[in-house]
Amino acid sequence: MLVLGIESSCDETGVALYDTTRGLIGDAVHTQVAMHEAYGGVVPELASRDHIRRLIPLLERVLAEAKVATSDIDGIAYTAGPGLAGALLVGASFAESLGMALGVPVLPVHHLEGHLLSPLLSANPPTFPFVALLVSGGHTQLMRVAGVGAYELLGESVDDAAGEAFDKTAKLLGLGYPGGPQLAELAARGGPSALKLPRPMLKSGDFQFSFSGLKTAVLMQVHGRALTERQRADLAWEFQEAVTEVLTEKSAVAVRHCGLDTLVVAGGVGANRRLRQRLDERAAMEGIRVHYPELALCTDNGAMIAYCGAQRLLAGQHGGKDGAFNVRPRWPLNESILPF
Ligand code: KG4
Ligand code: ZN
Repeated sequence: MLVLGIESSCDETGVALYDTTRGLIGDAVHTQVAMHEAYGGVVPELASRDHIRRLIPLLERVLAEAKVATSDIDGIAYTAGPGLAGALLVGASFAESLGMALGVPVLPVHHLEGHLLSPLLSANPPTFPFVALLVSGGHTQLMRVAGVGAYELLGESVDDAAGEAFDKTAKLLGLGYPGGPQLAELAARGGPSALKLPRPMLKSGDFQFSFSGLKTAVLMQVHGRALTERQRADLAWEFQEAVTEVLTEKSAVAVRHCGLDTLVVAGGVGANRRLRQRLDERAAMEGIRVHYPELALCTDNGAMIAYCGAQRLLAGQHGGKDGAFNVRPRWPLNESILPF
């Protein structure tokens, strides 16, 4: 069974083809980073318009790469939320109209479910059940995953998500957008110093997170001061230490709390090398197996959406046939059925 996946929830247009026997046979992503850079963040209207421009060329590219035709497609999955309403509507209308033209089922997919299941696309996939640490630009969540569609939220961020904190702190340090990778690069040139930042909610005894205070603490350090290059790098290092320490500690405790031995990391911040290093060290100490998606599948992509769609079709779900659709810019993952 061949499933086309469409991702357009934010600033990446992703199109991919997942075959249930051959695996991922086509995968293309266009990132809008260069376009939004000048504005210091994502401009929703520009994002929507760019998705419109990119979808058909990307589809043609993956079809050519996989050496298949649209008539070979058995189902289409698209991100129906959460994300930017206009951007989501582009992918939704594209997927629904193509599905109607081809006469194949069309499935709305939850973006975070895509991230959550993306490690299953790797060469060495995890087995259920596991604890998932979802760390993206919009979400920081710990979840107990019993199987496809069986997600129990253990805890989440009460304010800024980890990626959002990286992005906002990067801005405070005079770095461009998206800030996460640039802050990580600056941190690599820094190290421990007298400067210490808090470890928010490290000892809160639950699985909640809070990163907005950390960003304010960085603001206090940079406000009205001309930092040297070394001081900026040390501040970035300490910020990264604070975030990764809290994420590592809570993830390890969550795995133990659930009586499991597997941790799966997903979402853009999962690309952070320091986070991976800390999690690997901690996991080695506690006998936990950690799985990460391939680096290219950490950030937004169509492959994870195609994969989710394929799992839904395999489970016998068929999506609507009447072409009616909607998107959910806000959509809790545990509400798995779309109230359209
Ligand atoms: O999952 P994702 O691509 O999009 C959302 O669904 O939000 O995650 C994007 C987030 C951004 O906040 C970005 O700054 C962050 O992931 N990110 C990183 C790194 N690479 C991406 N944060 C820290 N270190 C990185 N290497
Ligand atoms: Zn994402």
